[in-house]
Amino acid sequence: MTMAGSAIGLGNIWRFPYMVGEHGGSMFVIVYLFCTLIFSLPVFISEIVIGRRSGKSSYLAMSSLTGGNKWWKLAGLFTVLIPCVITSYYSVVGGWSLHFLWLSLKGVFTMAEPDSVTGLFSEFVLSGWGPIALLFAFLAICGLVVSFGVKTGIEKFNKITIPILFVMIILIMVYSLSLPGSMEGVRYLVTPDFSSFNSKMLVFALGQSFYSLSLGLGAIITYGSYVSRKEDIVATSFGSAISDLIFALIAGFAIMPAVFAAGIAPGAGPGLIFQSIPFVFAKMGAASPVVAYIVAILFFLSIVVAALSSTISMYEVMVAYLIEHFKMKRIPASIMVFLIVGGLGILSAMPFGILDFLDALSSNVLLVLCALISVIFVGWTLKKEDVEDEITNGGKLKSIFFKPYYYLVKYLAPVFLIVILIYNFIS
Ligand code: TRP
Repeated sequence: MTMAGSAIGLGNIWRFPYMVGEHGGSMFVIVYLFCTLIFSLPVFISEIVIGRRSGKSSYLAMSSLTGGNKWWKLAGLFTVLIPCVITSYYSVVGGWSLHFLWLSLKGVFTMAEPDSVTGLFSEFVLSGWGPIALLFAFLAICGLVVSFGVKTGIEKFNKITIPILFVMIILIMVYSLSLPGSMEGVRYLVTPDFSSFNSKMLVFALGQSFYSLSLGLGAIITYGSYVSRKEDIVATSFGSAISDLIFALIAGFAIMPAVFAAGIAPGAGPGLIFQSIPFVFAKMGAASPVVAYIVAILFFLSIVVAALSSTISMYEVMVAYLIEHFKMKRIPASIMVFLIVGGLGILSAMPFGILDFLDALSSNVLLVLCALISVIFVGWTLKKEDVEDEITNGGKLKSIFFKPYYYLVKYLAPVFLIVILIYNFIS
């Protein structure tokens, strides 16, 4: 449940629709499904294997399984550095969400002309200081939570808001499917044009799939170290991947029909949900203002909490590293992360497309690199018997999945991921 909770988040609701819109609609969805089942799932299983076998968090997990090997320690360092990049732009989206929560509290969407609210996002992003100030406000909340070590408090909160988000997104889906012009959006999601397939689409679908399952930055390795020996790793991974997929698809069917009904370009970029969702609330508001007002607040509140909980868990990775390796105290370490990440975040808060760039760089390159490291570690460094021991819980589970899994992890996934990395490098 916790792993599924980490997986389900802004990646499904904010990032997935914008990726679908930028990279070719339903064909992207198909490629994404393929990547999740063939590549992300084995990587997910491998990260749990590394975590459970070592009993360590991501930075030291691989080196501890190889008797303190320093190269594997260096590889572990990646899992600390990548959150630095991701947190910087993720917090900008967190700041946007705060702004939209504020707008929904003021009732801006529910009392407006539907066509006028789609422009609120660009107005805000172009406003200059607003997004930067809210980036720091958002990071400050995370920093406070992490410095006082009340992380579990937020996670409890998350257990309430993720189900609320789920209910809200289903509600929005039903409503947005009823809007005039929305069927165009459904068609966009379900009628694949196979000739539109291209390598860029594959790269982005793979990146989205890793991102959405929280792979490649040590989260699943760390969680894996807490998984009990009795647990079936393959079943756990399937459960997480499937629930994450379903959530993403529902979000797609909530957002895309609204995008078409509102006449927004599907490839509008990272602001897609902030342009389309207010339109839905404005339409809803014309029919039943009170319901729309409440749904809008609950929706953006859940988005803010989902963004907070993801950011906090990445923030904690960086703070824990500073405390362990530089013997810093918790509060100075939190302040240092605040300054570094905030400074880097300013670039993404400005309307120059740097956010899109860092988002693509981290998902398509950095996460793929880390995933490659995990599969090479499991396929080529761990002994086959040890991997089988983990997958079958010492022979207690008869896993028909072991053979195909091992083949994927040892040969197919490394080759594929290397090709993707080289492609990224060239292009
Ligand atoms: N998977 C999360 C989402 O879909 C984002 C994420 C990536 C994440 N890596 C993480 C969340 C690590 C928590 C921890 O939004």
